[in-house]
Amino acid sequence: MNLLSVLRMIRKAGLFRKARRPVLPGSLMKYPNIFSPGQIGMLATKNRIKYAATETNFNTQDGFVTEKEIAYMEAQARGGAAIVTTQGAYPDRLGEGKGFRGTMSIAHDRYIPGLARIADAIKRNGALAALQILHCGREGGVDLDYCLMPTAVPQRLSYFKPPREITTVEITQAVKDHAAAARRAQEAGFDMIELSGIVGYLISTFISRYTNGRQDEYGGETIEERCRLMVEILGAIKAETGDKVPVGIRLCGAELLDDRGGNTPEESIESFRIAEKAGADYVSVTVGWHESSSSVITRDVPMGRWLWVAERVSKAVRVPVMMAFRLFLPEIPEKAIADGVIDFWEACRPMIADPDLPNKASGERISKVVPCIACNLCFSRLYYHQPIMCTVRPSLGHEGDEAWGYYGFAPATEKKRIGVVGGGPAGLQIAAVAAERGHDVTLWERQAAFGGSILLASRIDDGEEELLRPIAYLVERCRDAHVTLVPAATCTPDALQGLGLDVLVLAIGSLFGPSGGPGRLTPDEIIAGEKRPGKRVLIAGGDGIGLAVAVYLLRTGDYHVILVEESGRLGRDVSPFYLWRYLQMFKQRGVEVMTRAGLKGWDDGEASIASAKGERRVEVDDVVVASRLARPRAVEAFASSGAEVLLIGDARRPRRLHNAIHEAYRLGMRI
Ligand SMILES: Cc1cc2nc3c(=O)[nH]c(=O)nc-3n(C[C@H](O)[C@H](O)[C@H](O)COP(=O)(O)OP(=O)(O)OC[C@H]3O[C@@H](n4cnc5c(N)ncnc54)[C@H](O)[C@@H]3O)c2cc1C
Ligand SMILES: Cc1cc2nc3c(=O)[nH]c(=O)nc-3n(C[C@H](O)[C@H](O)[C@H](O)COP(=O)(O)O)c2cc1C
Ligand code: SF4
Repeated sequence: MNLLSVLRMIRKAGLFRKARRPVLPGSLMKYPNIFSPGQIGMLATKNRIKYAATETNFNTQDGFVTEKEIAYMEAQARGGAAIVTTQGAYPDRLGEGKGFRGTMSIAHDRYIPGLARIADAIKRNGALAALQILHCGREGGVDLDYCLMPTAVPQRLSYFKPPREITTVEITQAVKDHAAAARRAQEAGFDMIELSGIVGYLISTFISRYTNGRQDEYGGETIEERCRLMVEILGAIKAETGDKVPVGIRLCGAELLDDRGGNTPEESIESFRIAEKAGADYVSVTVGWHESSSSVITRDVPMGRWLWVAERVSKAVRVPVMMAFRLFLPEIPEKAIADGVIDFWEACRPMIADPDLPNKASGERISKVVPCIACNLCFSRLYYHQPIMCTVRPSLGHEGDEAWGYYGFAPATEKKRIGVVGGGPAGLQIAAVAAERGHDVTLWERQAAFGGSILLASRIDDGEEELLRPIAYLVERCRDAHVTLVPAATCTPDALQGLGLDVLVLAIGSLFGPSGGPGRLTPDEIIAGEKRPGKRVLIAGGDGIGLAVAVYLLRTGDYHVILVEESGRLGRDVSPFYLWRYLQMFKQRGVEVMTRAGLKGWDDGEASIASAKGERRVEVDDVVVASRLARPRAVEAFASSGAEVLLIGDARRPRRLHNAIHEAYRLGMRI
C-alpha cells in the first residue's frame, strides 16, 4: 500500500478532516474564514474560494482552446481564488456531450497542448487548476440531431435536441471516455478533476427518477441503482489517475422537479453519500434543473437562499462541501463557512463580473468589486451560440487585449476636457473610462441621485434593488478616477459656454412619450409613485418598460391590467430568465394580453384597440403609454458648446442596461 492510499484511508476515517468553524480569533481580516487555508484530498488550498466552471463559447467549434479562453482563465487565476475550474470539457468524440458550439473538448490527445496552456496559466498565477469533465446528456449534441439520455423522456425545453436512449454499449464507452478525459487532464497538468452531474447533464439524468426509467442495471427504483453510472465513472477515473489527483463532483442537492416526478430530497442527499463512497474527494452542491419551474439564480431569489441544501449535504458527508448559487456577497459564504454549512465558496457569475473579487475581498476593497446583478445575459448568450458577455463588465473576453483596459488603461495620447451630461449608467461608465485614460472629466446629473432609469428599474420587483449596486460601483470608480461629479445640476447649452470643452457626451436618456391627454400616464410617474392610476389600467407597449409597469402595478395593488403590444410577442427585449416569471404572474393575476394590436384612441373611460380581428372597445380608468423616444435633436441643441458632441445610451436609442454600459465603455476607450 503506498503512502497516498494510507493518507486517503486516514482522511476517509475522518482523522484528517479539518475542524468546522475555523474562525481565526483576533484576525484583522474581515473574512477570516474565507481566507483561511483549506484542504481537498491531499492538496492544500490557500483560501476557500473556488472559481466555478463557466462555459464561455470562446473556443473553436471543433473544441480547441483559444487565446481568448486562456487570457480569461489567466485573469481568473490572477484574481486570487485558491482553485480555478475550467469550463466543462466534453469527453466524447461524436460531440454527444457537447452543449455549446464553442465548448472545449477533451475527447482526444490532440487537445492536450491547448488544455496544458490553461493549466499553466492558472498554476503560474498561484491557483490550483481544476478541469471539469462535462457530458451534457439531455442538453448535449449541439451539433447533432439528437441527444443521449437513459430513457427518451421528451424535452420540456424545445431548444434541446430530441432524446435518444443510450445503449449499454454506449454507456460503457461513456465511462471509458470519462476515464480517458481524466488521463488527458492529468497529462495537461491539472491539479484536480471535476465531474458535472447537474441540471440535466448525462450523470444527473441517470440519477434522477424523472429521466431514468431504465429496466437494466443502470436504472431502478432505488437511488443506488440510478447512481450506478456515476459510481462507475468515478471508479474509472480514480483507477485511471492512480488516485494522484483529487476528483470532485457537482451534484444536485434539490432538483426542484416535484411536478415531474424527480428525486425526493432524501434521494438527492443520498446521491452525495454514494459519490463520497465511490471516492469523490469533494462535492459541489447545486440546486434545480434548467427545466425546473421555479427561479433558482435570478434576483428574485435572495442571496444565500439555497444554503439549507448545502447544510443537509454537509451533515451527510465528510469530504469538503462547496456551493455557488447566489452567494454574491462575501459576508454570506463567510458566515456559511463559519457555521460549518460549506467548506468552500464557489463563485461563477460574481467572478465573471469581476475575476479580481477574491483579491478585493481580502484587501477589504469590496466596494471596488464590479457587482454581478444576476441578469443572466452571460448565460443566455450561450443559448444563442454567442460568446458570453457581461452587462456590468464590458472587458469580458478581452482580458488579453490592452486596449480594453482589464488590467488598467494606457493613457490617452492627447488629454482632453470632457463634459458628460447625465449620470445614468451610460454617463457614469463613459466618465470613469475617459478619466482613467487621463482625460479631465466633469459630469452633470439633473437629479440628486445618480442612476437614471435604473432608479426606476430598481423599484419594480423583488430583489431589483440589486440593480443599484453597479451604479454605486460606477460612482465610486468615477470618484477614484477624479471625475468632477455634479449632482442636482441640470445642464443646459448656456451653462457650458466658456468651459472650453473638447468633447461633450450627451448621456441624457430617453423620453417617455408621447405624454399628456386625459387619463394618460407615463411609466416614470407610476413607478416613482407620483401618480396612482385607477383600478383598470391599459398599458400600451409590451416591451421591457410596459412589462415593468405591469409588474410594478401587480406587486403594489389590486389592479386589472390590460397589455397591448403591436408585435406578436411580449417582452422581446427582456431576458428569458425573467420573462417566464412575468408571464406566469400575468396569467395568475388575470392580465389581459393583446398582441398584434394597437391602441387607436381613448376618451374618458374607454379605449379603442385595433387588431386583425377588428376594433374593440374596453373600459379603462387610465392608459399608460410605455414607449420611449430617442433624443437626436439634443446634439443640435448643444452644438453651441463648441465641443464635439456625442449622443450615447438610451438617448441615442432606447434599449437595455447592457447596451448603455457597453456603448459608453467602448466610446470611452476611443475618445
Ligand atoms: C422602468 C424601467 C425599467 C427598466 N428595467 C431594466 C431592466 O430590468 N434591465 C435592463 O437591462 N434595463 C432596464 N431598463 C433600461 C435601462 O434602465 C436603460 O437602458 C439605461 O438606464 C439607459 O442608461 P442611460 O444612461 O443611457 O440613460 P438613463 O438611465 O435614462 O440616464 C439618463 C440620465 O440623464 C439625466 N439627464 C437628462 N437630461 C439632463 C440634463 N440636461 N442635465 C443633467 N442630467 C440630465 C437624467 O436625470 C438621467 O439620470 C429599464 C428602464 C426603465 C425606464
Ligand atoms: C455562463 C455560465 C456558464 C456555466 N457553465 C458551467 C459549466 O461549464 N459547468 C458547470 O458545472 N456549471 C456551469 N455553470 C453554472 C455555474 O458554475 C454556477 O453553478 C451557477 O452559475 C450558480 O452560481 P453563481 O450564482 O455563483 O453564478 C455556468 C453558469 C454560467 C452563468
Ligand atoms: S452578465 Fe449579468 S449575470 Fe452574468 S456575470 Fe454579468 S452581471 Fe452577472
